[in-house]
Formats: sequence, structure tokens, C-alpha cells
Amino acid sequence: MKVLYETAEVKRWRRKHSGSVGFVPTMGYLHEGHVELIRRARAENKNVAVSIFVNPTQFGPREDFAAYPRDPERDLSLLKQEKVDVVFMPDAEEIYPPQSNTWVEVGSVTERLEDAFRPGHFRGVATVVAKLFGIVEPTRAYFGQKDAQQLVVIRKMVDDLNMNVEVVAVPTVRELDGLAMSSRNVYLDPEERESAVVLYKALSRAQKLWGKGERSAELLRKEITSLIESEPKATIDYVSIADPETLEELEQIEDHALVSMAVRIGKTRLIDSMTLGK
Ligand code: PAJ
Repeated sequence: MKVLYETAEVKRWRRKHSGSVGFVPTMGYLHEGHVELIRRARAENKNVAVSIFVNPTQFGPREDFAAYPRDPERDLSLLKQEKVDVVFMPDAEEIYPPQSNTWVEVGSVTERLEDAFRPGHFRGVATVVAKLFGIVEPTRAYFGQKDAQQLVVIRKMVDDLNMNVEVVAVPTVRELDGLAMSSRNVYLDPEERESAVVLYKALSRAQKLWGKGERSAELLRKEITSLIESEPKATIDYVSIADPETLEELEQIEDHALVSMAVRIGKTRLIDSMTLGK
């Protein structure tokens, strides 16, 4: 496994590898969710590249950029076990040299849900992913469904900018009790960790109602909201039942919907989502 720190080194590696390249961009502190993406990439491509870069431009000024958990040594040993071919670990200067002055704004799908609470977040995500795609030139890139809006934004960017990469969505990997795996789960104390399962409980409730034939988005929103509000440590940022492609809020669900939410448990902000229908 090669560990590379510079853009030029990755480009050189890419020129020497003509077979398919599966790429998994991450911010490190890897868990089973990341590993699932890597295994999919390993199974479907000749070469696998992973990036570890805590991208400063997707964090707001009052967010946890400095405190974001990091453990590069552990990450590297895990990636080696998964038979990753190349790991790109740039520093911020490498990705954002002083002369770098181009930003990727994806438009209306970035202006919903997360944007009200994390303005500019998806500008940072889209920009760094576009840069990483330009460096790695992957055949396929793997993203988790947990970050549902991120996935929609990346698909839209790739489509709108005619990028030559196939975006692959990977289902959310969960803890035994249903909590979606996330690097940020380490922030939860034991009591908060127990409360955090309320997100999954709420999604499961929505899925059950949907299964029984409920099609009113408003009713599902209300059910989810009241279930989460019954958990004293939980504060809702949003609960959304939206069109999976445009992210526009629905009144009535036709054949499919994206249920997504952001909930603060104590000081930790968690997101989760599920698709109803096809
Ligand atoms: P990060 O949070 O490290 O996540 C990297 C990838 O792992 C994302 O595609 C995310 O959706 C996926 N992932 C995280 N938890 C998951 C889980 N429980 N199950 C399945 N997949 C999961 O998302 C980012 O980094 C950044 O925004 C990035 C795309 C790297 C751009 O900086």
C-alpha cells in the first residue's frame, strides 16, 4: 500500500494504472461504515484509492474542525488490511494552495436541509470532491447513503459538470441497536449514546407507517417529531420528508421519499436518513 501526500505523486500513480480505479474519499477516523465503502470499491475495481483529508472548507466557523477526531496510524493499518492500493493524505496547503480560487456551487439541492444549519457546507464538500476527482481520476467513487444530501449534491455536480465518474451509493452501516456509524459518535457520553438510538427509532417508525400504507408526509413528519421530542436529551434541527432527487418537501408521497433528519444529542449533532419506496 502506497501512502502519498502530494497531488503530483497521486497523478503519477494514476498515469501508471490504466485499469479501473475505485475511490473512497473520507475524513479519516475510519469505522465500519467507511470499511463497507472500501470493500465495495475493492470488489468492483482493479485498483482502490482512499483519501483521508479533514476538509477545512466544509466546516463552519463555530464547528468542530479543530476537534474532529483523527487517528492516522490506526486508519492506515485498517486500510492495509483492506488491501487498499493507495492512500492520499494531503495537508490543507496541498489542496488549497494560496493561488487556489475556484469554488463549486451546486445550486438548489445545496440550499435545503443541512444548509440552514451549516451554511456553505456543501460548497466546501463539492469543491474538495471535485478537486479529489481531478487528482485521482476515479472510474467509480463510493459514497454512503447516511449522508443523503451529500450524495444528492455529488450526483448533481457529476451530472452538471459532465464528470467522468460513476457515483456508487452504499447503504448505511449501523450499530447493533440501529445507530448509524459515524466518526462523531465518539463525542457521545454513555447516556447520550443510549439516547442517540432515537433517530433510528424514528426512521423505523416512519418505515412501519409507510408499510401500512400511510402516504401523508405531514403525518409522518409529526410522528417522527413527537417520537424524537419524547427523548429529553434530543433537540431537532429538522425532520424532512422530501423528493429523493430535488430534496423538495412533499405533502403527499407518491412512489418514493427521502426521510432525513438532524438531531442534536447534548452538544453532538447527528444526521440519519432512510428511503421509503424504490
Ligand atoms: P466522512 O464523514 O469521513 O465519510 C466518508 C464517506 O463514508 C461518506 O461517503 C459517508 O457517507 C460514508 N459513511 C459515513 N458513515 C457511514 C455509515 N455509517 N454507513 C455507510 N457509509 C458511511 O463525508 C465525508 O467524510 C466528507 O464530506 C467527504 C465526502 C470526504 C468530503 O470531505
